Amino acid sequence: MLERVHSVRRGAQFSGEGDDGNDESKTRKNISMAMRASNYLTRTTYLWPFIVLFLLLLFHFSLIIHSRNFVCVSSSSDPLSRMRFFAVQDPDSDFGSLGVPWYVQHSERKIGSTLKNYVADVTPTDFVNTHWNLIYNPCSSCYFWLSKHGKTVEWTSKDLLKGLEEFVPIYETRPIKNNMYGMGFDHSFGLWFIARWLKPDLMIESGVFKGHSTWVLRQAMPDKPIVSLSPRHPEKYLNKGPAYVDGNCTYFAGKDFVDFGSLNWRSVMKKHRITDPSRILVFFDDHQNELKRLKQALKAGFRHLVFEDNYDTGTGDHYSFRQICDQFYIRGGGHSCFKDSDEARIRSTRKKFWEKAVDIEELCGPSEAWWGVRGYMRDVFNHSNKPITYTQHFKNSRFVESVLDVYWELPPVAGPSLTHQTRYDPARASTPIVEDGRFRLFQRLGLTRLDTSVFNGYTQMVYLQVSAQIS
Ligand SMILES: C[S@@+](CC[C@H](N)C(=O)[O-])C[C@H]1O[C@@H](n2cnc3c(N)ncnc32)[C@H](O)[C@@H]1O
Repeated sequence: MLERVHSVRRGAQFSGEGDDGNDESKTRKNISMAMRASNYLTRTTYLWPFIVLFLLLLFHFSLIIHSRNFVCVSSSSDPLSRMRFFAVQDPDSDFGSLGVPWYVQHSERKIGSTLKNYVADVTPTDFVNTHWNLIYNPCSSCYFWLSKHGKTVEWTSKDLLKGLEEFVPIYETRPIKNNMYGMGFDHSFGLWFIARWLKPDLMIESGVFKGHSTWVLRQAMPDKPIVSLSPRHPEKYLNKGPAYVDGNCTYFAGKDFVDFGSLNWRSVMKKHRITDPSRILVFFDDHQNELKRLKQALKAGFRHLVFEDNYDTGTGDHYSFRQICDQFYIRGGGHSCFKDSDEARIRSTRKKFWEKAVDIEELCGPSEAWWGVRGYMRDVFNHSNKPITYTQHFKNSRFVESVLDVYWELPPVAGPSLTHQTRYDPARASTPIVEDGRFRLFQRLGLTRLDTSVFNGYTQMVYLQVSAQIS
């Protein structure tokens, strides 16, 4: 082989190229294209076995990688084929790309004309100048990620991965194996991770059910007190099956139930000897209007809030932050109710694949009202359902933006081809912590040991940090 390489080189040396002492580049100009091609081929003959070998190896690897897909893809309802399908279907659409400030890409005039239809008193310049400082999302794994003055969460995707590795064995020891109507794996992980990262002195939870989320908080902070509020005490579930009642938790539940908005938080804090409310983490899973809860939390001076069910526009039983932040200036935000639009077509296709996806008929109420749920602000598990104008909805978003430093949505733990979830539309969620195709990692983290049903409950859990000057 070596000898052949030498002889090829020698051949090139004695081909007459440049042997008259002329500048090589000048000599080349006189050589025909055919000659050049033949010279090139002659010079590179020694490379061909390597190229062929490389191509063979490439073909072989691609067969290995795709062979798993061949086994998995049985019908178009398979998550993997879903994704392939949408990769083809969604070439340039903004649908599902929430997170990029719209005004970065569009002229002020265009924003103004879009908003003018809804909000008479906002001029485009006003809007851009006074608007919350949305910045381009530099983190590929954050989907709907807004921050004021460049502030964001301290943790990175790496921290989340490390956390997952630690959390899977903990989750396997959970007392309530079947937590239907409560949190699944993704949000359990998110709550545990955030609590562990922030290390609060006190944890408050509103919406307990059988006590799974109390157990999650306890795993994160074994020695810190918890305050739990729920109309029904979790001990009531004990005679029906597994439930969790915590020994270091003050329950405002059952006959002692007090709603979060009515509790005297000053006296609760005093009882727990807490003087700084920013040392408290509040977790809401009570299906109440989240704007109402935010205002109540602000009144008490709390700064770290987690909302479990952060429903997307057109879905859910209460007004959520995802809905509130869904505005025209967010890429993928603000919606069209035209039946003959790209969005309408994309939505109706995606609805066939994802149970929670909504088409234009479900999204839009009377007078093309798409915000909230068909122009309604839901509350108390949808027992209250009030229409709101777009102006009000827009003002709500501006209020939220004015009091928050950080809005951070927990990404799904893994892509749908790994978890086999079929409920939420991945186009409306951030890049998962374990991306599709990374089966080895998914397996290494122990996620293959979990029943697939635990991955079905993702609803964009969100962590909010209230600005220091507000509290
Ligand atoms: C979805 S479940 C909570 C699930 C629980 N966090 C878990 O992870 O298993 C909602 C709970 O909120 C309770 N709830 C209803 N109204 C409430 C209120 N005003 N304040 C607090 N909890 C409330 C319900 O009784 C129910 O137990």
